[in-house]
Amino acid sequence: MIGFPTKRLRRLRYNPIVRDMVRETVLTKNDLIYPLFVVPGEKVKNEVRSMPGVFQMSIDVVVEECKELVQLGIPAIILFGIPEHKDEVGSGAYDPNGIIQRAVRAIKKEVKNLLVITDVCMCEYTSHGHCGILDGERILNDPTIELLAKEAVTHAQAGADIIAPSDMMDGRVAVIRKALDENGFEEIPILSYAVKYASGYYGPFRDAAESAPAFGDRRSHQMDVANSDEAIREAESDIEEGADMIMVKPAGPYLDIIFRVKEKFGMPTAAYQVSGEYAMIKAAGKLGWIDEQRVMMESLIAIKRAGADMILTYFAKDVAKLLK
Ligand code: PBG
Ligand code: ZN
Repeated sequence: MIGFPTKRLRRLRYNPIVRDMVRETVLTKNDLIYPLFVVPGEKVKNEVRSMPGVFQMSIDVVVEECKELVQLGIPAIILFGIPEHKDEVGSGAYDPNGIIQRAVRAIKKEVKNLLVITDVCMCEYTSHGHCGILDGERILNDPTIELLAKEAVTHAQAGADIIAPSDMMDGRVAVIRKALDENGFEEIPILSYAVKYASGYYGPFRDAAESAPAFGDRRSHQMDVANSDEAIREAESDIEEGADMIMVKPAGPYLDIIFRVKEKFGMPTAAYQVSGEYAMIKAAGKLGWIDEQRVMMESLIAIKRAGADMILTYFAKDVAKLLK
């Protein structure tokens, strides 16, 4: 049959220059947010067992690391802290001289042109590893969000540029917004972990942040992995409460959720390619079972294609080096 097939989609695939021209999604360094884990001490740099290439670092080492990130063209970091002491009520989280507060001050003093985002939660700071204060085995919502608001204010006072609550308590964005405003930080944006699933993919992070719950799990506040409509309700309530940007987490296994949330709200949307996603790609790459670099790029392009505007990823340095 002459002229058949009439549509030849391959025409735009033969020439690499044409492929570059018609490419719909691009990943740039501007999309990257690099997570860092801060620990007490000096000159500490411990590799996390389940996350090759990721380290717990003391403040002095973090500051040097941040300078390297700026050199690499990475625009932003998100900080997680491991305090010197943990207690029932997570006092280290809202101590004006806590590990994160000191780290932020040091970074802001010594590093220019780096956006500092702080994770706001209690689980790294409580002796029981839960994301709030407990009554028996129940996490109390309303008393917890008051502490989260205090934590957020101390981060802002230390100089944090963006506050990112990851706890998944109800109403926390509203109380954090109010507390920030009352303390003169009405210009500090909130990036809320609006849609955060109770995921098995956080395993390696809990090694890095030493934040595994001592008993039970996080299913009483993080979302059921089977739910999608509920993600819309979560995002909607955080936006109503004043979130400036919203996050979906994990990323790769939840592309449908990123797509729905972005399409529905059109908000600046972040996706967190979490520790388990990183660990799986690293491990398979090490074994020679996949091409690590290629799968890394593919995983991130897929997250952007789904609708993410920015990606929190442990691959940020590797990507920045590759894009150089
Ligand atoms: C703390 C928090 C977690 C992550 C980010 N903030 C872990 C958890 O909920 O246990 C996970 C990040 C990752 O796995 O890379 N609330
Ligand atoms: Zn937590």
